Amino acid sequence: MKNMNEDKISADPSAWSGKRTAKIYSELMDKGRKKAVSLKGTEFERKPKISIRTRLIIAFALIFGFSVIINAWIIYTLSELQHKNHFLEVADSYLREIHQARRFEKNYLLYGTNLQDALEHIRNAKKILEENRPKVAKVLSSDNFKAIVSHASHYGELLVEIEKALKPESKKEIEKQLRSHGSKMVSLASDLVKIERESVDDNFKLARRIPFIFLFVLMILMFIISFFFTRQILISLSRLISYTERIAKGDFTRIVLVKKYYDEFSRLAIAINHMLDDLENHQKILVESHKMRAIGSLVAGVAHELNNPLNNIMLTAASIQEDFKDLDEEEKLDMLNDILEEAERSRKIVRNLLDFARESETTIKSLSIEDVVKKSIGLVSNQVKLAKVRLETNIPENLPPIYSDEQLLSQVLVNIMLNAVDVLPEKGKISVSVSSNQKDGYLSVNITDNGPGMAEHVLQRIFEPFFTTKPEGKGTGLGLSVSRGIIEQLGGHIRVKSEVGKGTVFDVMIPKIDIPFKV
Ligand SMILES: Nc1ncnc2c1ncn2[C@@H]1O[C@H](COP(=O)(O)OP(=O)(O)OP(=O)(O)O)[C@@H](O)[C@H]1O
Ligand SMILES: [Mg+2]
Repeated sequence: MKNMNEDKISADPSAWSGKRTAKIYSELMDKGRKKAVSLKGTEFERKPKISIRTRLIIAFALIFGFSVIINAWIIYTLSELQHKNHFLEVADSYLREIHQARRFEKNYLLYGTNLQDALEHIRNAKKILEENRPKVAKVLSSDNFKAIVSHASHYGELLVEIEKALKPESKKEIEKQLRSHGSKMVSLASDLVKIERESVDDNFKLARRIPFIFLFVLMILMFIISFFFTRQILISLSRLISYTERIAKGDFTRIVLVKKYYDEFSRLAIAINHMLDDLENHQKILVESHKMRAIGSLVAGVAHELNNPLNNIMLTAASIQEDFKDLDEEEKLDMLNDILEEAERSRKIVRNLLDFARESETTIKSLSIEDVVKKSIGLVSNQVKLAKVRLETNIPENLPPIYSDEQLLSQVLVNIMLNAVDVLPEKGKISVSVSSNQKDGYLSVNITDNGPGMAEHVLQRIFEPFFTTKPEGKGTGLGLSVSRGIIEQLGGHIRVKSEVGKGTVFDVMIPKIDIPFKV
């Protein structure tokens, strides 16, 4: 009696379930909110931020930087070409003038014509050099420039000297010098022009190649960037896809952030983790509220079942009261024993229901499937009797233990059995059997009924939340969707086969030894 008093249940089960679900709801939501807030300032937040945007900007900056370098190179090459072109123009004029000077020098030496024209041309040559000094200096080294200028000056001086020389011997000597110096002057200038022309040619060749080099390096750069960039994005995306597939199967394991930095995908992962918190909370609320509904259905049967022992207790107690004096000691003791036995039976019925109804955290432990199935059958046995259907069991001995949650598993089995009771006519049959398949690592609880079965379009939707074929107010349509959620959470799955007019088979597959991934 003491235990029964501990579990106080309101007289009205619907009010009871409503209040309790609301309480659980607010507690769970509070927990969820706290989790969401507590993520701030975690180790993750302290990691460096390398967002996709930053990486994109860096990639574009890299390409832009490379283009700037190439353009600067082109501009430099073109300006070099321009300088060399200017130099060549000046050098051509200079060469023309010194060639003319040498022509007049030869005329003077051969035919004795005047030297004024030669002097005039050599002055022009020097003038050209002086006037274009900055342009020439950009291309020629200062030594070369000095050499050219001094050649021209010296040549000019020799011209003046030869004109002034009176003695034929000294004239001869100066003539010799003039010839040799003149040819040196011309060949130096011609050599420099030749070198610069070749360098202009090389620059042109290079300028022609630059766009190809640019395109080639740009292609490699873009390939490397896009390869690493898309690889990173695709890896993160495919991971997220596999996470969502896992979540769809009911595995709410949180995503672990392993990267040394954080980016938009990390934020998405956090958002998914928050969503998982909420989903888990909602799932718990759904499971709890449907459990309350199942209890509502069970209470009617329990009330009926309690009638018999209570009647027996009352009748026996009334007999004792009436015939108290006529009864001998032994008869009295027998009757009191009857009362105690009946009271014990009543207590068991209520205890079972309370066990099922008790609010508890998910606890995974080693369980005997036989015990769970028997307890669940005990819970629905009153409904079975009321509906006047038969329930057969076939549970082999020596079944391996399972790691699961007793209450949740029982909730699933009760849901499926209550569904069968609901559809069966009088004398209908439910058979519950357990089998252990060595190959697939699952224990299967098979619940078969010979009821009306389901049409294909119904069968396809039975696991959808709120799908029901029951009249309004009779079914929530949550039983099977909640059951599937629970079983997947426990690492198993539910299989169903049904044929109209023949019946329905539900197979609840529970992993044998594996400790479920996440509960
Ligand atoms: N054994 C069965 N035979 C025939 N139809 C079934 C069987 N079990 C389930 N169904 C069909 O599946 C539907 C969904 O079942 P589910 O348990 O999810 O909700 P429900 O039983 O209608 O509502 P609730 O569980 O809240 O009472 C049922 O309405 C029924 O049409
Ligand atoms: Mg149901």
